[in-house]
Amino acid sequence: MGELDSWGYQWLTFSDFAPQMESEFADIMQPFDPEEFAGSRVLDAGCGNGRFTRACAAFGPRAVIGVDRSRSVAAARTNTADLSSAAILQGDIMSLPFPPASFDHVFCIGVLHHLPDPREGFLALARLLKPGAKISIWVYAQEGNELIIRFFEPVRKHISSKVPWGATKLLSALSAVALWLLVTVIYLPARALCPAVFCRLPMHDYLWYIYSLGFYTLYHTAFDKLSPELCAFLSHDDLCAWFAAAGLSEVVMSHRNGNSWRAQGRRPVCEG
Ligand SMILES: C[S@@+](CC[C@H](N)C(=O)[O-])C[C@H]1O[C@@H](n2cnc3c(N)ncnc32)[C@H](O)[C@@H]1O
Repeated sequence: MGELDSWGYQWLTFSDFAPQMESEFADIMQPFDPEEFAGSRVLDAGCGNGRFTRACAAFGPRAVIGVDRSRSVAAARTNTADLSSAAILQGDIMSLPFPPASFDHVFCIGVLHHLPDPREGFLALARLLKPGAKISIWVYAQEGNELIIRFFEPVRKHISSKVPWGATKLLSALSAVALWLLVTVIYLPARALCPAVFCRLPMHDYLWYIYSLGFYTLYHTAFDKLSPELCAFLSHDDLCAWFAAAGLSEVVMSHRNGNSWRAQGRRPVCEG
């Protein structure tokens, strides 16, 4: 099977996406204002089915190039076919066919934590920034994922990333139904009737967030968690060290939904 097949299978199977991807994208980009994409040249590194390439194009960049190593580029091409500013390439983040300082903005959503060496992937992308350009990343956090690391990760590592994808899909559907029932029966009433109790429930921000995106996204998210061969959980300190190693300034980091990091930095205009 292999890792490339896992991503190709995932994005060709879950090629649709929830309609609220533009607001989702704007939220992940915070505090960057996506209106600033207007007229710029942007890279979507690890674009999957192109859902965020498409969301970015809505903000009027001169060009947004989605790159992915897997067969998912077929879904990304279909999902962006009507957009004149979008282009999709198949390629590896570690050896992209762009010279240094090619982009006004690079974003990389949900990809670095699946690379064999996430730090090297980040540094490779940072080299593509023009002076004054920004990079925005979103990664799984170590902080807030203790339950996932303890109970789900062994299942992913030893079972669900190894069995045929049809079996992983079935396991994902069963997990999604269980989570849907859990949130409907416990989290939803607690949120409505007793917010103090809701706030004490495990992973309440995250579970409420994926529940609010609908069952299809919950099912897709379960598959996305259970199928990858590689998965890292990165700490605040890891990310601080990456941005420092890349020589980036104006670094801003925030915890999203209690279990992930969104982070941004800028290549200084004058280096040295
Ligand atoms: C969880 S998906 C995220 C996709 C997309 N950014 C999104 O959030 O919808 C991770 C993606 O990274 C891609 N990927 C993994 N390693 C890569 C690499 N070395 N170079 C390019 N893409 C890679 C996978 O093929 C997969 O589509």
